[in-house]
Amino acid sequence: MHHLRPLTSATVLLVALALLAGAPAVRAADGITRGTTYRDAPDSRYLLGGDWLFRLDTAGVGLSEKFQRQTGTDGWVTTTVPRAWNAGDNSVTSFQGTVGWYRKDFKLPDDRARMNWLVRFESVNYRTSVWLNGKPIGRNTGAYLPFEMRLPRKGLKRTGTNHLVVRVDNRRLPTDFPPSGLTGAGDPAGGWWNYGGILREVYLQRIDRIDVTSVVVRPELPCSTCAANVGMRMTVRNYADRPLRVTASGSFGRERVRLGTKSVPAHGFASFTARVRVTKPKLWTPTTPNLYKVRFRVSLRGHKLVGYRVDSGIRSIKVVDGRLLLNGRNVALRGVGVHEDDPVTGFAITPARRAQIVAQAKEVGATVIRAHYPLHPDIQDLADRAGLLIWSEIPVYAVKTQYLKRAQVRKLAAKELQQNIIANQNHPSIMLWSIGNELSARPGPVQALYIAAAVHDAKTLDPTRPVGLAINGYPSAGCRPQYAGLDVIGVNEYFGWYPGPNGQIADRDTMSDYLNSVRACYPKKAIFISEFGAEANRDGPVEEKGTYAYQQDFVNYHLGVYATKPWLSGAIYWALQEFRVRPNWDGGNPHPDSPIHAKGLLRFDGSKKPAWADVQRLYTTTPQFAPP
Ligand code: GCU
Repeated sequence: MHHLRPLTSATVLLVALALLAGAPAVRAADGITRGTTYRDAPDSRYLLGGDWLFRLDTAGVGLSEKFQRQTGTDGWVTTTVPRAWNAGDNSVTSFQGTVGWYRKDFKLPDDRARMNWLVRFESVNYRTSVWLNGKPIGRNTGAYLPFEMRLPRKGLKRTGTNHLVVRVDNRRLPTDFPPSGLTGAGDPAGGWWNYGGILREVYLQRIDRIDVTSVVVRPELPCSTCAANVGMRMTVRNYADRPLRVTASGSFGRERVRLGTKSVPAHGFASFTARVRVTKPKLWTPTTPNLYKVRFRVSLRGHKLVGYRVDSGIRSIKVVDGRLLLNGRNVALRGVGVHEDDPVTGFAITPARRAQIVAQAKEVGATVIRAHYPLHPDIQDLADRAGLLIWSEIPVYAVKTQYLKRAQVRKLAAKELQQNIIANQNHPSIMLWSIGNELSARPGPVQALYIAAAVHDAKTLDPTRPVGLAINGYPSAGCRPQYAGLDVIGVNEYFGWYPGPNGQIADRDTMSDYLNSVRACYPKKAIFISEFGAEANRDGPVEEKGTYAYQQDFVNYHLGVYATKPWLSGAIYWALQEFRVRPNWDGGNPHPDSPIHAKGLLRFDGSKKPAWADVQRLYTTTPQFAPP
């Protein structure tokens, strides 16, 4: 691949510009403001900002003492949301989790009786129970994905103060995603800090009889010079007691789109679809991330009930003969793994921090980012605008076979995969759906079952994207027929860093042959290095693990080997920046700074380690895209 085009520094400028877009709405007195921080949303969503109340419930008395019914402020402290209650507490008990209660006292921003209301949580870690004015309205399990609950008409105060109470339980179970567990040394296991709380924004959604329950904008590009075919679908739900005959319309870029008129049954659903042909599409590529503004609108006898906006990008991603093709071109992507962590706020990161993660990934020359869970929708928007691809994964992380064996566990995993696709599929940046990370390296019938079902679900919901899985890079694993349905294999490769079972990855010089053997096992699949990395937290000799010099040598060696594999679709350094992982973490470093995971190219305070410059040089000079 020697005629490939390196990245230009203009893309860095693009990110900076993108960050200025999407200005937040003006703040109302009670902290409720119309609009979302992200694009893919109806225009009837209100941020539930301003002051919230919080109380910790380590004693576990909240339910019996009826915190859910309290209206006074005794025992509650003022807070804001999102907020991780244990950010900065690095103790074992903090990691193991507890219960915390959040409360929002609010008045509806619109008191008209015909309006119905939902509350929408973007991410709560982990188990959530919600009450409105003392009455239970719903529960949810699982972080990193949005969920909604209806505010019952009976009980909701149109003009008075409502009390929304949220109980959050972040005590990890072995059946959770990610699961609890114990390390060999008896410490709590886990790949990132267990931050408790409401970790992303909460919204109110106003429904004027019709709610938009889902929008899919799916561009299909048969070849890079072809016309594109864009499928548009909007599903709506009628909250009224009688059928409503509504008209759906919209636009794709400058193209007006008619979606038709339909009767939506009382309390029922209807879908509106249209196809748009774009004869000369301006393609979305990492160097030219062209976006099309898409609008939907539902009206009743000429009166608008709800509008919906989303950005779309026209590009194709396919796996053909063992290579990932973007717009028909071979790729050799270079990227970084990320966590939404921050020294002060933990996982409840601010808009500025979200923008910083994307800007730093661009600065180091990455064209792809990966996390172990669905990223905040703002990060995905920023990636769309910055031309960053996303390896989108659900937190089915190191789940042990004995738990994956349980139908309930596989059911929750399937739900998370489906919800990730439903919530995030309109982002052109999303390159593939990853169904997990480091399940047993010797998969048997249980994993086979999980993979086959997940691939089937993903393809049914979204036939346009490849499906992948990140696996432990161990030679002893051999070729596995259980991976048959996958389009992409991600290899987490730590040769020369960890010893691995029986010391099989201790010698980095065996890595090249190992990668060739992976290729030979899966000649039709696209292969990525989904992780490689070495801890570094100090100066010292190049031979000593944990030194900056060792990390520099490590990245040069590993990226050097990858460059000799023309079949490799990409490599993702783990990780862009340091983060809190777990108590007594050493990560293979003889002198660790637990709980900090130190493989980052950036320290937790954001400063650059020496290896940053090596990775930046190698990434920006690697031709990541084949010529047209
Ligand atoms: C694993 C895992 C990461 C982890 C890394 C490490 O492969 O996927 O989440 O941080 O290894 O050990 O550093």
